[in-house]
Amino acid sequence: MRKSRSRMERTVLRAACVLLLFCVLGQRVDSNEILGLKLPNIEPILNANTVCLTLPGLTRRQLEVCMRNPDVTASAIQGIQIAIYECQHQFKGHRWNCSSLETRNKIPYDSIVFKRGFRESAFAYAIAAAGVVHAVANACSMGKLKACGCDEKRRGDEEAFRLKVERLQLEAIQRRRGMSHGVMEHFPAELSGHHQDTWEWGGCSPDVEFGEKFSRDFLDARETYRDIHARMRLHNNRVGRQVVLDHMRRKCKCHGTSGSCQLKTCWQVTPEFRKVGSILKERFHVATLIKAHNRNTGQLDHSHNNNNNHHHHHHQHNHHHHSHRRRPGVNELVFFEKSPDFCERDLSSDSAGTQGRICNKTSHGMDNCESLCCGRGHNILQQTRSERCNCKFHWCCYVVCEECRITEWVSVCK
Ligand SMILES: *[C@@H]1O[C@H](CO)[C@@H](O)[C@H](O)[C@H]1NC(C)=O
Ligand SMILES: *[C@@H]1O[C@H](CO)[C@@H](O)[C@H](O)[C@H]1NC(C)=O
Repeated sequence: MRKSRSRMERTVLRAACVLLLFCVLGQRVDSNEILGLKLPNIEPILNANTVCLTLPGLTRRQLEVCMRNPDVTASAIQGIQIAIYECQHQFKGHRWNCSSLETRNKIPYDSIVFKRGFRESAFAYAIAAAGVVHAVANACSMGKLKACGCDEKRRGDEEAFRLKVERLQLEAIQRRRGMSHGVMEHFPAELSGHHQDTWEWGGCSPDVEFGEKFSRDFLDARETYRDIHARMRLHNNRVGRQVVLDHMRRKCKCHGTSGSCQLKTCWQVTPEFRKVGSILKERFHVATLIKAHNRNTGQLDHSHNNNNNHHHHHHQHNHHHHSHRRRPGVNELVFFEKSPDFCERDLSSDSAGTQGRICNKTSHGMDNCESLCCGRGHNILQQTRSERCNCKFHWCCYVVCEECRITEWVSVCK
């Protein structure tokens, strides 16, 4: 579909929809419908009334968390929406394409895929939990939340920083004096010795620890029964969060005379969420089937299963698993129910069926017509459709998308 860009009439529809994923493009924005927020560009008022009491689908525990930190909760919910958007990107062209998570309810945990134990469920849990860490940590560093700010552990020593700046100023003055004679004289050894060093200072890093903790408080404690589903949920939530933590990057900026780097500010940034999605997608393909072998402890029993899903056949798994029981690795997604083929409509397994889906005759991927249409064949027809595209999420809590209008010949599953 990327190819069709040239034929695509792109309309920039500045549709600012509050948590847009469920508002229809082209419609007027009903600004206060969700979270009681005002229009974009106005700092929203995030309190218990505007966030928690208008939000359906919160458990009692989550409502408590929300009442204590409504602004953080709003950020978390936006994180979940970003995660759903990313899930749809990662599963575009798959039979199950994540569209079912886009419910009117901002908290998608009531949707069927979350109630089941599929490989897809595992992915959904992980990416939602990662979305919460990501959004909250970034909101912290943007100074948007009362309860957190920059990661202070990554701040440098401010006193040492001040001394260094003074020393550099002195050095500059010394040098100018020296240069007034045309040569470098009287240049104090103590200063010249230091003058090659780069001195580093900690900028504002997102507080990922706070984000991680909030994600746990908000998502892990939905209910606390210890059955296999609960274990799976907790495990995959953890995997998702860890992907964000493990892929923090360092960024630095130099300050100094003419491109020198005598003074450097460094800080951490969260990974692009696209990267988090891609990593989790790889883990999805090699996820591990678990069995409950002890209902009381909820211990996860691992039995090797990577190729049960015939629609994952495009991916060669070179992962060697031991056939004996072991605990699933800390980075592995786990599931306990084999996925259906998602070919036919079956709402009890979150399958919309693939009839009417657009496929690609020449693709070797999931959207290949043979595979996507489950052998039923396809029709070729000309279609004009609107899709939202190039969505950007803004604080808080809305997203602006463009509307892409596409007219093209497509293959559509029978
Ligand atoms: C995802 O699947 C649903 C249900 O089959 C379909 O209506 C929708 O158009 C699909 N979305 C994309 C982006 O292909
Ligand atoms: C179909 O798949 C082929 C091969 O991957 C790709 O080059 C082409 O752009 C795809 N066509 C569309 C309309 O997405």
